[in-house]
Amino acid sequence: MAQYTRVSSGTVAVITLQNPPVNALSAAVRQGIVDTVQRALSDSNVKSVVICGKNGKFCGGADIKEFAGPMSGPELVPMIHAIEAGDKPVVAAIEGMAFGGGLELALGCHYRIAHSKARLGLPEVTLGLLPAAGGSQRLPRLIGVPAALELITTGRHVTAAEALKLGIVDQVVDENTLQVAVKFALSVAGKSVDGHRRLSTRPCPAPPDLDALIEGAMQRVHRSSRGAVAPIACIQAVTAAATLPYSEGMERERELMATLFNSDQARALQYCFFAQRTVGRWRMPSGAHWDTSKPVPVRKAAVIGLGTMGRGIAVALAQTGISVVAVETQQQLAEAKQTVTDMLERGAQRRGVAAPLDLVQYSPDLKAVADVDLVIEAVFEDMTLKEKLFQQLSAVCKPGTLLCTNTSGLDVDRLASRTSRPELVVGMHFFAPAHVMKLLEVVYGPRSCPSAVATAMHLGKRMGKVSVAVGNCPGFVGNRMLKPYLEQANFLLEEGATPELVDQVLEEFGMAMGVFRMSDLSGLDVGWRIRKQDGQTGPGVAPGQPMRVRQGRRYSPLADLICEQGWFGQKTGRGWYDYDGPGGRTARSDPRLHRFLEEYRAQHGLVTRSIDPQEVLERCFYTLINEGFRILEDGIAAGPEDIDAIYVFGYGWPRHRGGPMFYASMVGLAAVLERLEHYHQVHQDVPYLEPSSLLRRLVANGSPPIQKWKEIIKGLHSQL
Ligand code: NAI
Repeated sequence: MAQYTRVSSGTVAVITLQNPPVNALSAAVRQGIVDTVQRALSDSNVKSVVICGKNGKFCGGADIKEFAGPMSGPELVPMIHAIEAGDKPVVAAIEGMAFGGGLELALGCHYRIAHSKARLGLPEVTLGLLPAAGGSQRLPRLIGVPAALELITTGRHVTAAEALKLGIVDQVVDENTLQVAVKFALSVAGKSVDGHRRLSTRPCPAPPDLDALIEGAMQRVHRSSRGAVAPIACIQAVTAAATLPYSEGMERERELMATLFNSDQARALQYCFFAQRTVGRWRMPSGAHWDTSKPVPVRKAAVIGLGTMGRGIAVALAQTGISVVAVETQQQLAEAKQTVTDMLERGAQRRGVAAPLDLVQYSPDLKAVADVDLVIEAVFEDMTLKEKLFQQLSAVCKPGTLLCTNTSGLDVDRLASRTSRPELVVGMHFFAPAHVMKLLEVVYGPRSCPSAVATAMHLGKRMGKVSVAVGNCPGFVGNRMLKPYLEQANFLLEEGATPELVDQVLEEFGMAMGVFRMSDLSGLDVGWRIRKQDGQTGPGVAPGQPMRVRQGRRYSPLADLICEQGWFGQKTGRGWYDYDGPGGRTARSDPRLHRFLEEYRAQHGLVTRSIDPQEVLERCFYTLINEGFRILEDGIAAGPEDIDAIYVFGYGWPRHRGGPMFYASMVGLAAVLERLEHYHQVHQDVPYLEPSSLLRRLVANGSPPIQKWKEIIKGLHSQL
């Protein structure tokens, strides 16, 4: 809806968008704007117009929920055009935000006044789209091609101050935006609208080196977008603005949008948008959920162990404004303190704020954590060590302190059982580097109480993380699914692939990093230690012996063998690739590794073949997805969105492919099932390839859309 009022003796019409919470441009709002603008233009008393949004928010953009159905109501393009073409000056009074269609609406107005706290942007690209209500044509005319390209291809939001500097707004005010806008409207009342204020009639300021600029933007996008098509379409639309008359540019904008609107990528990105919100509304199998479980306030926290993870966690907590007690062994304490200090200082420099050094207090003594509200343990991944620590923490900490572990996959319930407060024990599984990565898995055990989960989820949110609540099982969600994926990658090497081939296929798909480069980065010794602890590794590999099947399961000792040689990845300068010495970052093919693979295959009589890229994709991803279905079946994740958010925000899955479960739904569940059946037939000794019963059931139910899976899962659970 849009409300129409007249002020200043009826000479200024004020149109107020009304659609809580962000005044999105639903069909009703668009109709309201069309009607009220028409009224203002035809009312002879009205000399100028102000458009604003109710409750301090100008407009959050299109109503994404409407994208799914058929379009109804007036279209944005003619609506905005009518405002711009009208002969009465129109002022946009921007408070809160002007995003997407909201900013396009403001660009159709003749003047823009923004509150200093407002943010502006065209985030369409993040939803797989482009600003197709004239935004791609008007913005370059207003602020020039380079700045428009940057904003439109990244979807970045700018502050009011930056918007003023760029020339997006005419004025920034500190208070009472509407009053200032009305006053301004009065000052231009009755004046004819200067042609220059109608952006569509302005020539686009074309830079002398337009071709080079566009080429540079294309290269940047190719490097960073990992196969996403919307940023490319955005560049093409801006190019049209710079090279064609407005009407032809609009035609081009429309054509490009048509290629994106119903694309799989746009659907995937819009799914991610909603998934990110859905995961915040967590629910435990007990029925406890986000809405009824209250978090307890966390003002002071502790981090135990300042290694790779603890350092990042301490930094992230301090940057959130939380006091931190950081505990590390005496030997490591000074070095850890120096590193945390450096990290805080670098972060502060980047953000242009003071480093919160005073918020972190260091101690080698566990007693220093007695009065904190929450502890995050991040010592070595060693169950005995962690069990002892939880016992001590339970004795040292005041009653009510939440005890959290950053374990990558150990049993949270076993740790809980070492304390006198098992209901206050949860996993807070951060990802490296913890002050940068967006994901947090919050792991509840069978005895964790809802308010403990709520507290960890809320803390994660305060720290700017996408927090996903998951159940307790080895590896939780992310690492549990990674296991079959890594396993398949190793099998593929045995069968004739190279790390380069596998990584290339996965990276071309859009993964941030191929599986072998990722393993080299995180350190091969970590998984090796865990496999040794679990008794998975063998007593060396005797030449000619069929070591490959252990207890009926195929097992690849390749990773163990390269660890035995001391090749742990980047940290030792060698792993699946060769690096420039220890700590080197650039992966190079290693002929020694290739020789090692050939010798291994020969020793074990493995017949090699040329591996098709499609097989790499299917075997790596479909086993990972299959495990995702098992996780849903087991109730470890509440729904596919939880799994997908974990993979997109923590494991480098390309957002424009929606996450593994969404990807499966796009490929078609029947096709995934058929390929898994095929590979399981060929590799009967690989249990991960056996299709999960949930996948079978979904296919038997006609492969419903992903939004309907939860109903089928519920049915499955009620039968158990
Ligand atoms: P790390 O080996 O880098 O650091 C562990 C730190 O704990 C060391 O500085 C050590 O001196 C300290 N420490 C050991 N015993 C201690 C004690 N009793 N009191 C105080 N400090 C003690 O290990 P990292 O990689 O930081 O891993 C820590 C935990 O985080 C593990 O449980 C790991 O599984 C988990 N994790 C690791 C990830 C990674 O990418 N490295 C990702 C997510 C979780």
